[in-house]
Amino acid sequence: MRIEPFAVEEWMNEYEEGAKFNTAETCVDSISIDDLLGLAGKSREEFFSSLCSRRLTYGDIQGSNALRSGIASLYRTIGKEEVVTTHGAAGGNHHVFISLVSPGDHVVSVMPTYQQLYSIPRSITSDVDVLKLRKENGYLPDLDELKRLALPDTRMIAINNPNNPTGAVMDRDMLCRIIEIADKCGAYLLCDEVYRHLGQDDEWCESVADLYDKGISVGSMSKVFSLAGIRIGWIATHDEDARKQFLSHRDYDLISCGMIDDVIASLALENKEKILERNRGIIRSNLAILDDWIHGNSHFSYVKPQAGTTALIHYDFQVPSYKLCKDLYTETGAFLTPGDCFEEPYSFRIGYACNKDVLEGGLKAISEYCSRL
Ligand SMILES: Cc1ncc(COP(=O)(O)O)c(C=O)c1O
Repeated sequence: MRIEPFAVEEWMNEYEEGAKFNTAETCVDSISIDDLLGLAGKSREEFFSSLCSRRLTYGDIQGSNALRSGIASLYRTIGKEEVVTTHGAAGGNHHVFISLVSPGDHVVSVMPTYQQLYSIPRSITSDVDVLKLRKENGYLPDLDELKRLALPDTRMIAINNPNNPTGAVMDRDMLCRIIEIADKCGAYLLCDEVYRHLGQDDEWCESVADLYDKGISVGSMSKVFSLAGIRIGWIATHDEDARKQFLSHRDYDLISCGMIDDVIASLALENKEKILERNRGIIRSNLAILDDWIHGNSHFSYVKPQAGTTALIHYDFQVPSYKLCKDLYTETGAFLTPGDCFEEPYSFRIGYACNKDVLEGGLKAISEYCSRL
């Protein structure tokens, strides 16, 4: 199976390690096991003595009850038996496409977004249409355009909410209108919801899995819970046929998610409110810093994110985005992601949910570098 190179991941693989100011990172400032134990009010001894005595079997093949109940608690209507655990959301998205899409199927995917959502279906079927999210629409989908693209036999519509890289959010009303379109064709609606629960306000961010029987939500512990190191993700859906397909494919490429990862994720989910409070505090105060910086720099413009950890920033220098980001990195150690990774020229993506000093240091370095252009 041939697949297009994953532009963002290739960029991160090459440069992330040496960054001085890593503002390309998309997780909310990652935490250690010690940080997690601190938030959970648990002692090291208590945690490690029960962990260290466990035999390292595959563990619960489909994920422990604690893990799947914890994941289900992030939804309004999903039960723990409706959750399929995966290796991160990356594994979740991949799993959904290979389980449900076949050669010849028609898929509609948004862009810009995480590249999996259009490149994986393109690797399976030649019939993929892209629904462009435009700056002038606040990076929300044009629903008339979606109506034109959706065909009577469309197999799947793939969206991402909140959106990476723009931080745009589709509200309940817009999701319901997309569901109407999907339902008319009998299509699955896959929504990558890896940044859900990271809103700039306290409004509940809806999941397609709660709103539509053929809605498929993909999430993970990486961004919202700052635990990318444990590689736990999931797929949640009411659709039983789809779940059967996921579990069948899962037997071939995953078996289980690993018992140590399961224990850590379960503990985090048991303490989800404390982690969410920390992480919402970070994204809200850091976005205020970024917003001030944008308003003080006439060369840059953006649509202010409503949620998530990233913003897409356009600039008016006549420098291609890969060159700008590479030169910035070499000269200052500040690390951004080129907009061309998302097919958005003359822009870059910034991850603003990092440590505050890293964000401030990175923004200062970008200002100094850009003043020489
Ligand atoms: C929208 C989106 N989906 C999925 C992923 C993959 O995340 P995970 O670490 O859960 O595999 C990312 C990571 O950047 C992402 O931004």
